[in-house]
Amino acid sequence: MHEPDGPGRDAGPVIALVPAAGRGVRLGADAPKAFVPIGGVPMLGLAVSGLMAAGVVDEIIVMVPAQLVEATAALLPPAAPARIVAGGAERTDSVRAGLANAGDAAYVLVHDAARALTPPTLIARVVAELRAGHRAVVPALPVVDTVKTVDSAGVVTGTPDRSALRAVQTPQGFAADVLRSAYEHPEAATDDAGLVERLGIGVRTITGDPLAFKITTPLDLRLAEAVLDGKQVVGRC
Ligand code: C5P
Repeated sequence: MHEPDGPGRDAGPVIALVPAAGRGVRLGADAPKAFVPIGGVPMLGLAVSGLMAAGVVDEIIVMVPAQLVEATAALLPPAAPARIVAGGAERTDSVRAGLANAGDAAYVLVHDAARALTPPTLIARVVAELRAGHRAVVPALPVVDTVKTVDSAGVVTGTPDRSALRAVQTPQGFAADVLRSAYEHPEAATDDAGLVERLGIGVRTITGDPLAFKITTPLDLRLAEAVLDGKQVVGRC
């Protein structure tokens, strides 16, 4: 078992950074991905609602394309404790821009707008682990497919042991000083924990949730619509 490794039991504000500045080319929509609606609500609005519903987040900073900073406020839930700032060319640039505005944070969550249906209970579990003293916490699920590595010609070079693989989700949670140190390095990474790992800091995984899937392709969008539709039907019963 991975024991808590930091002094992070103190109370302190939790700030959530929501990267929403991607173009979402794989989704093939007209709008940037985070602005595409599901059940009539933009993904970004759903993601911010989920963070608020978790009841453990003090402030939310969303990073959007520079030209959409002004228009974004109207898309967020009323009374969201949110600030909106311009993101950057790569996801790491967007997170760095958010982090520069999170001066007061004791803990930082980084939560993709594209994981719009993430259950609030998962968000609360990540924060509970941080408050218990773990300095880097990511939700993860076992990988169901067999995964291959390939060379530039597409020829298989290896088959990693599937039992040791995990697909990671967001929110990824960090003691604020840990994430700041990680972002002092200029390298890009596809997730924030990847930068923290390079510092040699242990990253704890907790059990993720299938509903925290990243909406990336048109099929994902249909799945998200169906999930929301099902919830509304259940809610009416
Ligand atoms: O492209 P990908 O699906 O990995 O993006 C994950 C999240 O990062 C999305 O919510 C996207 O809007 C955000 N992002 C960003 N700035 C970028 C690229 C992606 O905020 N330059």
